[in-house]
Amino acid sequence: MRITIKTPKTRDDFKAYYDLRYRVLREPWGQAKDTEKDDYEPISQHFMAVDEDKGKIVGVIKVFERSAGVGWVSHLAVDPAYQKKGIGKQLLAAVEQAARESGYTVLGCMSRLNTTLYFEKNGFFIAGIPNHYFGTTQVVWMEKKL
Ligand SMILES: CC(C)(COP(=O)(O)OP(=O)(O)OC[C@H]1O[C@@H](n2cnc3c(N)ncnc32)[C@H](O)[C@@H]1OP(=O)(O)O)[C@@H](O)C(=O)NCCC(=O)NCCS
Repeated sequence: MRITIKTPKTRDDFKAYYDLRYRVLREPWGQAKDTEKDDYEPISQHFMAVDEDKGKIVGVIKVFERSAGVGWVSHLAVDPAYQKKGIGKQLLAAVEQAARESGYTVLGCMSRLNTTLYFEKNGFFIAGIPNHYFGTTQVVWMEKKL
């Protein structure tokens, strides 16, 4: 399996990119189409993991500058058939590199409570208190110093 991390560029890239987000992060909770997008899409840097043998987008992530020097990482999702193969880690590394190049000193994310351990394994720590999210789950702000 050859996985490369790229930035989505074409209309078809973005269609597949948002579709993966929806399938992994919204559909399982019965949320409507388009809830997978937020107001910060135009000012975000987007990354996707591509299975080059299949020409398929199998992972996504984005980051934008939330406040001076603080990059907000969000919408990290890996296709269930490709999870636990290091793709999430590669996507986080791509975001971290882009964040450093953009001069950010901190990366943060709103993690669901069942993924805080995953982000801790990738160098983040819990830096907020849990908040309700979509009424069905809870999220907490986590940070990583760069
Ligand atoms: C969470 C997610 C992004 C991880 O990506 P991935 O490519 O599967 O993970 P990686 O291959 O980079 O890392 C695998 C390691 O993380 C661990 N891990 C995966 N999900 C975890 C979780 N929810 N909590 C704790 N550890 C987790 C694995 O057990 C494995 O550990 P090991 O290396 O010690 O064996 C992916 O499972 C996913 O898309 N989940 C559903 C969407 C989601 O919850 N996104 C985060 C929104 S806040």
